[in-house]
Amino acid sequence: MSGQAGHIIVKNLTKIFARSDLNATLVALENLDMEILPTEFISIVGTSGCGKSTLLRIIAGLETATFGQVFCDGEAIRDTDPRRGLVFQEHSLFPWLSVRDNIAFGLRATGKYRSSVELVDRMISIVGLQEFANSYPHQLSGGMRQRVSLVRALIVSPNVLLLDEPLGALDSFTRMNMQDELLRLWNEHRNTMILITHDVDEAIYLSQRIYIMSPRPGRIACEIPLRISYPRNRSSSEFVNVRNMILRKLDFAKEEQEDYNL
Ligand SMILES: Nc1ncnc2c1ncn2[C@@H]1O[C@H](COP(=O)(O)OP(=O)(O)O)[C@@H](O)[C@H]1O
Ligand SMILES: [Mg+2]
Repeated sequence: MSGQAGHIIVKNLTKIFARSDLNATLVALENLDMEILPTEFISIVGTSGCGKSTLLRIIAGLETATFGQVFCDGEAIRDTDPRRGLVFQEHSLFPWLSVRDNIAFGLRATGKYRSSVELVDRMISIVGLQEFANSYPHQLSGGMRQRVSLVRALIVSPNVLLLDEPLGALDSFTRMNMQDELLRLWNEHRNTMILITHDVDEAIYLSQRIYIMSPRPGRIACEIPLRISYPRNRSSSEFVNVRNMILRKLDFAKEEQEDYNL
């Protein structure tokens, strides 16, 4: 596989759910088009319920499109694949496995575990958890658990990492540290990063491009390229200007939804 893998194309994607509770169908995503280049770090922001998780689950292969298609490196996505790793907000670690065994779990599934004890140790030290290698999830803080989830997804060297509000449950201090951690991991692995977040600052701090989604039905309202060099300063004027612009656009997307509901 070339170093330039991890190219995602979303073409005219529509997702309709049958909702027996509403006795109706719900158009969660409508005619979405996106292209994410190999090694790109992009974020998706939008109000809750606008279809962000649904979009990510379709890219992961956990959910199917109703219309349209999603491609990864030219192949239509039909199923999950270790080349596309997924990290959720709720840490999904196995409570009965130690940190070391949780991180090694993905490798075991690919049959590489025997040759990779060193790799597991290296990943543990990358996120500074050497002293906790034999601890169990309940013995860790929320931030530590999320670091374990991140390296567990990264250890199989996925070309694409799909992150669904992975830092959403953390306090703001831990969250900022984890954002730097994410940038470090991205610099090291150079994979494609697709991050869903409701935190506009987080999206600006991390990504090269931001998609803003508007709700009901979920659509791409606009796309904002960020040309600020890394590491970014949250109080710089360019940062603050972009933040104001995005907040205005999010408000606008919400007003459009209100018109739509009239
Ligand atoms: N499996 C499902 N069955 C039915 N409706 C769903 C399902 N998953 C999501 N939805 C609906 O689709 C819409 C988008 O949900 P979601 O993608 O979770 O939004 P977000 O992640 O932006 O908050 C919501 O109205 C939600 O209720
Ligand atoms: Mg969601």
